[in-house]
Amino acid sequence: MTFTANPRRTRLAIAELAPDTVPGTAAAAGAPAPSRAAQQSARAWVGEVAALTQPDEVVWCDGSAAEKQRLLDQMVAAGTLTKLDETKRPNSYLARSHPSDVARVESRTFICSQQQSDAGPTNNWRDPAEMRRTLSGPDGVFAGSMRGRTMYVVPFSMGPVGGPISQVGIEITDSPYVVVSMHVMTRVSPEVLDLIDTGQQWVPAVHSVGAPLAEGEEDVPWPCNDTKYIVHYPETREIWSYGSGYGGNALLGKKCFALRIASAMARDEGWLAEHMLLIRVTSPEGRRYHVAAAFPSACGKTNLAMLRPTISGWTVETLGDDIVWMRPGPDGRLRAINPEAGFFGVAPGTGVETNPTAVETLTHDAIFTNVALTDDGDVWWEGLTPEPPAHLVDWRGDDWTPDAETPAAHPNSRFTVAAAQCPTIADTWEDPAGVPVDAIVFGGRRASNVPLVAQATSWEHGVFMGATISSERTAAAEGTVGELRRDPFAMMPFCGYAMADHWAHWLRVGAGLDADARPKVFQVNWFRKGPDGSFLWPGFGENSRVIEWIVAQLDRSRGLRSDTGAVLSPVGLLPAPGALRTDDLDLSDDDLDALFDVPAEPWLAEADSTAEFFETFGDRVPPELWAQLDRLRARLRADAD
Ligand code: GTP
Ligand code: SPV
Ligand code: MN
Repeated sequence: MTFTANPRRTRLAIAELAPDTVPGTAAAAGAPAPSRAAQQSARAWVGEVAALTQPDEVVWCDGSAAEKQRLLDQMVAAGTLTKLDETKRPNSYLARSHPSDVARVESRTFICSQQQSDAGPTNNWRDPAEMRRTLSGPDGVFAGSMRGRTMYVVPFSMGPVGGPISQVGIEITDSPYVVVSMHVMTRVSPEVLDLIDTGQQWVPAVHSVGAPLAEGEEDVPWPCNDTKYIVHYPETREIWSYGSGYGGNALLGKKCFALRIASAMARDEGWLAEHMLLIRVTSPEGRRYHVAAAFPSACGKTNLAMLRPTISGWTVETLGDDIVWMRPGPDGRLRAINPEAGFFGVAPGTGVETNPTAVETLTHDAIFTNVALTDDGDVWWEGLTPEPPAHLVDWRGDDWTPDAETPAAHPNSRFTVAAAQCPTIADTWEDPAGVPVDAIVFGGRRASNVPLVAQATSWEHGVFMGATISSERTAAAEGTVGELRRDPFAMMPFCGYAMADHWAHWLRVGAGLDADARPKVFQVNWFRKGPDGSFLWPGFGENSRVIEWIVAQLDRSRGLRSDTGAVLSPVGLLPAPGALRTDDLDLSDDDLDALFDVPAEPWLAEADSTAEFFETFGDRVPPELWAQLDRLRARLRADAD
């Protein structure tokens, strides 16, 4: 098919699309990814998807401020967005989703590799040919799914456009909310089409809210469908998402591309795509360190990414809050970028006391979803201020007062905001070559057992730590909040291939790095509770004390310090007495002991549960991890005697 006009600036009536495109064939499986994606021109693919989904019109997006404003105005007129008070919160908007469409749907997220074993036991797998029929066959859910709507074509880059660690894609969507969110979260640019034209590998991503409009039918503020499919074809690097307009289900550059598809690319190409934040730490001596940290959803990445140290002389700058791509660089070190351009952060708990940097970031040009509306046209959520306002309109659009039994903001309500307007953003955050990683941290939400901080004794021990992370469930996805579940590498919902292969890949990548340049690995837990159920550690800005110890350990490993920083425990190196600064903290000696207690019996039980977990992966678990488990058990038994 041919387009004579420049497609980037052309609004096409559907009738202008070439008639010879065949719906559903965009997705022939089997061929290796890069060649397949490159062979098919973006324009032909757009034509095929339009023929399948039958929108009223097709709009190619250019990522401009004017385009964004046009869509924002259109959504205000349609009732999807409420414009906030211009003096209190300039250029900012509130969206209320449908009450059924508020978080990621892991039960409807599918990895469709040719072999089920390549998706592994922790992913939902479907045969790709069968899934293609379900989605894009003649009777598939996408057939006619955009009727009565506009189809937007959004070319985007994850990472700086054209950067050596960056990747590009095109999201087709029938949701203007998704388009403006992609403007914030990714680099939307016509230059991406030029890169695709020169043969660069790209990821096609199709999204529909699944709510076609009949002739003359009036739209609803948040169209979506009870039936949802969040589908990935890792071998052909394709994404198809149906039925939801929310977050990771719909902003396909984020979890679907930058984690699930990118992790499969990374496995094949020797790099890492991880659910991590990225910060630059500067010590009082002026030395710089880069730290990447993987915590499960709603477990503190955004908070640590925007950490405001309480200890003097330290600076923490933000590079990313959710996703990190890392590649071994020419110097034998791991180099990392944040592939995103914005933050899609959890609102509740984000307050002046806990995360003042986020509060400052959000003073203008922000989109809020499912938070509460104040009577003077501003937003509020639990934890923003200690006292709630006397009256609010809650996330469902109902009147709310402080004596209400339900929260004013949904627990997974979120803000969408450009990273560039974060006051602590590092000046290197858009360096296409990335920053060198000095430390990797794993964490989770654990009321018991897991110490405040521990250091792995080797890269292999660090991989074991990552593989054995468990965490209490949060509201970021469907499921029972508080339930303890395994979340290896904080990637359980986001790994586009078999989880045990991910561990093997980490061992391989580590082996390929210069030994003295390999990042040191740590584990943290801000969420340990005392017998009364309250958190033992004050957290937030005080987490800078833990960062200080981590950095001191890096210095010791480089011979920059000679004092004793750590003592060996069964689970790793713990701060030696006095090595973690706790001055000026309201922390009793008993509480400090409790934060570092490694009780042998519960840990042996945890080791048994780890063995059961490993067994579910059969012979794909690297023998090195079984060896690590044996050693952990031996150390725990020795400790118990
Ligand atoms: P995703 O965006 O879902 O991947 O989450 P995230 O890991 O970025 O989570 P975020 O930083 O937004 O934190 C989620 C919740 O954890 C918020 O309610 C925070 O208030 C809370 N939290 C973050 N850091 C700490 C801490 O140090 N201590 C305690 N007690 N809570 C914390
Ligand atoms: C997460 O759940 O880890 C998120 C939010 O970062 S979402 O983009 O909706 O997946
Ligand atoms: Mn996340």
